Amino acid sequence: MTQPADVTIVEVAPRDGLQNEDRHLDANVKIELIERLAETGLTFIEAGSFVSPTWVPQMATTGDVLQRLHRAPGVRYPVLVPNMEGLQAAMAAGVEDIAIFGSASESFSKKNINCSIDESFINFADVSRVARAEGIRLRGYISCVLGCPYEGEITPDRVREFAMRLVDLGCYEISLGDTIGVGTPHTAAALIDAVTRSVPIEQVAVHFHDTYGQALANIYAVLQSGIRVIDSSVAGLGGCPYAKGAPGNVATEDVVYMLDGMGIETGVDLARLVDIAQFISTALGRRPLSKVANAYPPPA
Ligand code: HMG
Ligand code: MG
Repeated sequence: MTQPADVTIVEVAPRDGLQNEDRHLDANVKIELIERLAETGLTFIEAGSFVSPTWVPQMATTGDVLQRLHRAPGVRYPVLVPNMEGLQAAMAAGVEDIAIFGSASESFSKKNINCSIDESFINFADVSRVARAEGIRLRGYISCVLGCPYEGEITPDRVREFAMRLVDLGCYEISLGDTIGVGTPHTAAALIDAVTRSVPIEQVAVHFHDTYGQALANIYAVLQSGIRVIDSSVAGLGGCPYAKGAPGNVATEDVVYMLDGMGIETGVDLARLVDIAQFISTALGRRPLSKVANAYPPPA
């Protein structure tokens, strides 16, 4: 019998991991990636995004991927949706989980989704109303929670207020994105303290990019605060086209290795993840970015 997970991992490689890649990947490769990820024990796999193909060409195949994907029982396949046009496309593809995504920074909001924060909430309100009426589960992302490439410092209170607005729209979970990976353990923990003054900790997830090599340390810190949902990306793939200097997400295999070592159950098979990290990195013409995929297997 499988043990219940202590920590839930939200795998974001097929979306965040690939969205910034220049090399065009065929839909079949993305389908193989997602199907193999589902065989590791992961239960949340972000499968793509319904955004403008002019803005993010790599995600133009998301509809095709979802139409042809064999969905594993017990696995959820959320997609990013910025507006009603994205929601309609997601619904046509049979999506049951979506994520809306905004930014704690005005400048990043304009660069990433071409509107101000208040304008983004007009879109989110429309999307969330229809999604809820259709029984589609709604997750919310906040970018730039620990710093913005254009504005610099972002106060935890700004993030807390943004998170409350997303909860009011019906988001079951708020993922806090350190988009450019500038956070350190103390700033990350202080952010969790601030946000959880208004949002129950069970509804808060973390999404660390590893730009400055702080992601695992940040995860360790927020685990002490009680966080139990972690976004990560196999092979350490990742980056946002509108956040220069935002390379990989924290690698799923690095997170699982750390949690395994701490006796924290994720339900995810590390050896299979490492194989997938090799597979997708080969498809992209490089080696995995993670430490664990390059070092594996550990000595017996
Ligand atoms: P816009 O240009 O302002 O949109 O883009 P518009 O409404 O004026 O429409 C312009 C054209 O885009 C029209 O086509 C629309 O049909 C089309 P045309 O008539 O010119 O041929 N369009 C769409 N096409 C497909 N799907 C749609 C859609 N909407 C409009 N949903 C828009 C606004 C939001 C669409 C654009 O800015 C966009 O697509 N942005 C997405 C950027 C993105 O995906 N960024 C990466 C994800 S966020 C992230 O990575 C951070 C995160 O990981 C957390 C973290 O790390 O912090 C989540
Ligand atoms: Mg990201």
